[in-house]
Amino acid sequence: MPCSVVAGGFWGDEGKGKIISYLALNDGLDFCIRTGSVNAAHTIWFNGKRHALHMVPGGFVNQMCRLRIAAGANVQVAQFLKEVEETNVQNRIRVDSQASIVEDKHSTQDKSSEYLKGLGTTGWGVGPAIEERVRRTAKLAKDVPELKQYLTDVAMETNEAIDSGKKVLLEGTQGLLLSLFHGTYPYVTSRDTSASAICSEAGVGPAKVDHVILVLKSFITRVGTGPLPGEISKEEAIKRGWFETAAGTGRDRRSAPFSLELARRATTINGATQIALTKLDCLFPECKGTRTYEQLPKEAKQFIERIETHTQVPVGLIGTGPEALDLIDRRK
Ligand code: IMP
Ligand code: MG
Repeated sequence: MPCSVVAGGFWGDEGKGKIISYLALNDGLDFCIRTGSVNAAHTIWFNGKRHALHMVPGGFVNQMCRLRIAAGANVQVAQFLKEVEETNVQNRIRVDSQASIVEDKHSTQDKSSEYLKGLGTTGWGVGPAIEERVRRTAKLAKDVPELKQYLTDVAMETNEAIDSGKKVLLEGTQGLLLSLFHGTYPYVTSRDTSASAICSEAGVGPAKVDHVILVLKSFITRVGTGPLPGEISKEEAIKRGWFETAAGTGRDRRSAPFSLELARRATTINGATQIALTKLDCLFPECKGTRTYEQLPKEAKQFIERIETHTQVPVGLIGTGPEALDLIDRRK
């Protein structure tokens, strides 16, 4: 802090929601700015309740944290209003007037395109909505009466917050390998997902960022189609305790072991200053709920040290369970 970016390093679903909720509570975040769109779901366990948030920033767990949706983001209005009510954040959430709108027609186009179906899109319509934005015919947040009370200039507000020393987190969605520019094209999403793009969507210049926290899961998962090096079968994934279903669409997630090569590519292209490693307890069940590094078994420490050696980036945060505070914090 003061300005941190949280980005995903693989194909999304690395556990960004959990890391962001920890930072919101532990580091006392003042602002949490969400980028991306409704196709991504961030899972947050808070007070024993599970939230799968497609629009509301993960910083909501801290009552004092102001929540913002970036100009570069794409808002699905019905989902936004539903989550605002569910999380009770009416007073502290705002949307940039220039954010664009994902409409029902975009979802229909997404679901009825054979080509997009072949890529395994989420069906929310984000790709078609961005196409429309690029054509300069998209509806923006300022054109929607239901959003009127929430509108603000998020870009200016965010910069002012950073300049006055507030703690600001720019919340990325998805992961580097789903990036339109750096991912496994054409099996990617409709935007760049890297740390620089997260800053661009929020309207924050690169020199204002202090930390880039790259979230990596202890094994790799991917939903939808496209390559997944080292992929294992569903049966094997169940046996290893790696089998997951998507928080947003409920689809099965495919899985593969952690890759040092992919981790290095992701730390490099994102300019990571810290790695947050999640779900260590899925690789080493003895780690569940551990909150100090010393208590980790030797093999778990070796796994972490290999990642640090190969990427030359410190593993500052280690997730050991689903709740925000199930975590080892080695930053200091
Ligand atoms: P779209 O973003 O809905 O167009 O889908 C394009 C590809 O990105 C598909 O393979 C989706 O499964 C994947 N994708 C999009 N958002 C997420 C996410 O938040 N987590 C994981 N995969 C995602
Ligand atoms: Mg997700």
